[in-house]
Amino acid sequence: MRIDRARLAESMAALGRIGETPRGGLNRVALTDEDRLGRDLLVRWMKEAGLRVTVDRMGNIFGQRLGTESLPPVFMGSHADSVPTGGKYDGQLGVLCALEVIRTLNDRGTRTRRPVGMVIFTNEEGARFQPAMIGSGVLAGKIPLEDAYNARDRDGLRLGDELERIGYLGPEPCVPRPFRAYLELHIEQGPILEEEGLPLGVVEGIVAIAWSRVTLHGVQDHAGPTPMRIRHDALVAAAEVVRGVREIPRAIGGDMVATVGRLDVTPNIPNAIPGRVGLSIDLRDPADANLDRALSMLDRVVREAARKEGVRADVEHYWRVPRTRFDREVVGAVEAAAQTLGCGHRRILSGAGHDAQYMAAICPTGMIFVPSRAGRSHCEEEFTALDDIEHGANALLLACVQLAESRA
Ligand code: GLV
Ligand code: MN
Ligand code: MN
Repeated sequence: MRIDRARLAESMAALGRIGETPRGGLNRVALTDEDRLGRDLLVRWMKEAGLRVTVDRMGNIFGQRLGTESLPPVFMGSHADSVPTGGKYDGQLGVLCALEVIRTLNDRGTRTRRPVGMVIFTNEEGARFQPAMIGSGVLAGKIPLEDAYNARDRDGLRLGDELERIGYLGPEPCVPRPFRAYLELHIEQGPILEEEGLPLGVVEGIVAIAWSRVTLHGVQDHAGPTPMRIRHDALVAAAEVVRGVREIPRAIGGDMVATVGRLDVTPNIPNAIPGRVGLSIDLRDPADANLDRALSMLDRVVREAARKEGVRADVEHYWRVPRTRFDREVVGAVEAAAQTLGCGHRRILSGAGHDAQYMAAICPTGMIFVPSRAGRSHCEEEFTALDDIEHGANALLLACVQLAESRA
């Protein structure tokens, strides 16, 4: 049994037009009108594929296909939101490959023992509402529903209100329930598979992730008459923090990465000394203990930067996901699928966060990676060749069927 490559490519093209940027990337940020249109198209396709579609109170969309026995189902999925000026593969591809697996089972009239389904998670990217993976986080019981609803975007809009506005505040409770397994196909978003010429990554786990918010409170004043000697410039302190954060992975070594991705400067005009700056800090490492060390170092970096410029600093370590280890049996099913397909593969650790990270807390979970050209992602240049996508989708199909037939 193999997936229909042409049909998958057609669906990718159709979904990719919703929120497409002039440069061929994607702008379909969570709970925007574009997100709504993307969801509507996916729901239509899911219903056409005969799935029973439900939406939960976080806007996570589930579609389930009957099995011959009413046992806990095998679910596949990912997310359909993108980062601003992102690409057409991150998330979308996993959702469309899941749909293609279901369409393939339908073509063949295959009845699996267990039900098989697909899920589209809300606000995986965390670009608009923090934290990331909020839909799966609530589902897994790791983020309180009310906290998720109260997350606000830059314009102060509430996640709960935006969910309702786009018509995806569903009636189903967003709580853990029995799944036999969760499988997520995703682009690698790093360079390893391409460098090694391998079409498939058998993902063993995901690095630990910590997000912090730093706010520096300086003194807003006029850029002209205020002599340099009496300034307390929040942006100058922020620059020190950016530099200091860059030094943390160097000090800790190994595979740690650290990123300041967002600066919110107030008042952000040419002729005022910045009075307040907010910074986002993203720290990741394969080992939880290294993140603990990094967070203490971050506290020191901020204290020192604030002292030097005479500004006040608030630091909030508001989100942490521990290192995830995927289930042996699910990883084994993915590996067996790659072997059956006869395509090159290797075990790999994910440096990006995924909904699979939260799903792993409530059911046996695994992931399949396909290569990213030049390792690029979260940018419009994101690209994966259709040959590789086909291998990945077939591996998803085989692994899904194996788990859906399993007795365990
Ligand atoms: C999700 O894209 C993440 O890894 O931040
Ligand atoms: Mn993703
Ligand atoms: Mn992403």
